[in-house]
Amino acid sequence: MKVDDLGAEKFLGRLQAKRLGRNFEYLPSCASTNDEIVARAIAGGAEGHLVVAGEQTCGRGRRGRAWHSPAAANLYFSILLRPALPAHLASPVTLLAGAALASSLAALGFAPQLKWPNDVLLDTTHGLRKVAGILTEMASEAGRIRHLVLGVGINVNAAEFPEALGILATSLGIVGGQRLERGEVLATFLDAFEPIYDDFLAHGPSAGLATWQRYARLGQACAIDRNGMRVEGVTQGVDESGALLIRSVAGGVISVHAGEVNWLASAPRE
Ligand code: BTN
Repeated sequence: MKVDDLGAEKFLGRLQAKRLGRNFEYLPSCASTNDEIVARAIAGGAEGHLVVAGEQTCGRGRRGRAWHSPAAANLYFSILLRPALPAHLASPVTLLAGAALASSLAALGFAPQLKWPNDVLLDTTHGLRKVAGILTEMASEAGRIRHLVLGVGINVNAAEFPEALGILATSLGIVGGQRLERGEVLATFLDAFEPIYDDFLAHGPSAGLATWQRYARLGQACAIDRNGMRVEGVTQGVDESGALLIRSVAGGVISVHAGEVNWLASAPRE
């Protein structure tokens, strides 16, 4: 373990989680921490193995987007998970990580809002902006999960973003008006995620999804592309599989398993 400006010693001193993050690697630079964890998984790494990068040269987000990953400003990390579960039960994990992110940011004094499936937003003087995102990737075999890679990017201290992201992104430092220690933010997240994840393994996703819903933007008019069709409605919650439930203007409740939610300024149309 290399002690660096992440505050690695402080991070490990502060970490209360028993399993997740105890096996910790810091890489000053890598392509993507998700790729690093895939390599650790293939080499037989244990659940909870954590890779944190100072910067990513090929950080990636959902739907093939790049994840802005400049050096030493933010948190880019991935955790190896090995739940002994059928592959079809994996999808709530992204939402459980979102629930843990929201409660950890709330514990740090922020007022996060969750946007399905993987965005953490903060209110700014310019409106809602994205402060963190989650990318979960899975390998399965014969219908069972071989491993999950839980990748998280948190804009901690970035003061500016590329023009293309400028209208969408913010950081904890911008919103809170001061720099935060990345190691503290990381430990706070892992301490929040471990009990939610353990409860998921023991009892299923209900409790974690209830936490997700507590921080989610529900009751909001939105539009989503579903199987090539635009659906407008109001966000209502999530089901046990992690699908988003939208009350459509026609009155029925639609479950959405994939897609991009776009907020509507006015009431939804049929
Ligand atoms: C998204 O909002 O689309 C997901 C962003 C996930 C970014 C993190 S940063 C650490 C990990 N490594 C990656 O390449 N991506 C995830």
